[in-house]
Amino acid sequence: MQRCLAAAAAILAIASGSAAFAYEAGKADELLPADLERGEAGYAADCAECHASAARITRRVPGDDDEARAEWLEEFLPEHFAPDAQVRRDIIAYMLAQ
Ligand code: HEC
Repeated sequence: MQRCLAAAAAILAIASGSAAFAYEAGKADELLPADLERGEAGYAADCAECHASAARITRRVPGDDDEARAEWLEEFLPEHFAPDAQVRRDIIAYMLAQ
């Protein structure tokens, strides 16, 4: 399953180019810029079975602005179904775009 996801993400990355999102974690500079299409696919694969609505769960993320919410998610998600830094970056961008 994990291998399928990686392959799907790679194909999406090639197919979609990179619609960069302003959010940068400030670390892991070797990562690709956040990509909304990869984020949508990642969310569907890793989160949607429990959180059907990305918009709804994103509204519950604490923080006054997107930067604060992104930081909160960057702390929370490694232990919550998004251990991979690239997948996490893409999912965070997708969530904040909802
Ligand atoms: C197996 C079910 C499951 C999966 C998969 C899952 N979550 Fe969750 N999530 C939960 C549950 C249950 C809670 C509430 C309890 C807790 O905070 O852990 C939660 C809490 C959260 C919260 C905090 C909301 C709040 O009210 O504090 C966020 C944000 C979140 N999840 C995002 C995600 C994202 C993004 C993914 C995918 C990377 C994901 N979740 C995958 C079950 C899941």
